[in-house]
Amino acid sequence: MNRETPALLVVLHGVNLNMLGVRPAAHYGTITLLELEDVVRQEAGAWGWSTLCFQTNHEGEFVELAQRFRTADALLVNPGAWTHYSYAIRDALEMAQGPVAEVHLSAVEQREPWRQVSVLADVASVRVSGKGADGYREAVRRLVGLAGGKDEAL
Ligand code: DQA
Repeated sequence: MNRETPALLVVLHGVNLNMLGVRPAAHYGTITLLELEDVVRQEAGAWGWSTLCFQTNHEGEFVELAQRFRTADALLVNPGAWTHYSYAIRDALEMAQGPVAEVHLSAVEQREPWRQVSVLADVASVRVSGKGADGYREAVRRLVGLAGGKDEAL
């Protein structure tokens, strides 16, 4: 990528993700949100990208962040439980100009039936679940590859 300013990755964490480290370790491991954000920053930084991270427990605020950063080079989102029913968040992410990654720490497709539904799936170019923090690294690499139009990161 030939540009003066680094590409921007925006990371949006939704409801209850601020409680990582306290939530059931069997599903989410023991990593805290700050540690997870660090993982993302390091992976993105290795590809020359800068990262902005946000977390909110308010659905409308999540929507506003998605709107505000729709021109970012890529979005990485884990909306938590909103994933399974928030058409408002899905519609906000649809406006993103760059690729969107939907990431879940836990293997949502192997959990309760309601968790197996993602209303965001059709607006996400990258979907990763069940790989913990490694899944975030993978998602960053795939976003960089998609946004840069290169396969070097894939
Ligand atoms: C989650 C999975 C969701 O079903 C759950 O509501 C979360 C976290 C995950 O990262 O595995 O809050 O998105």
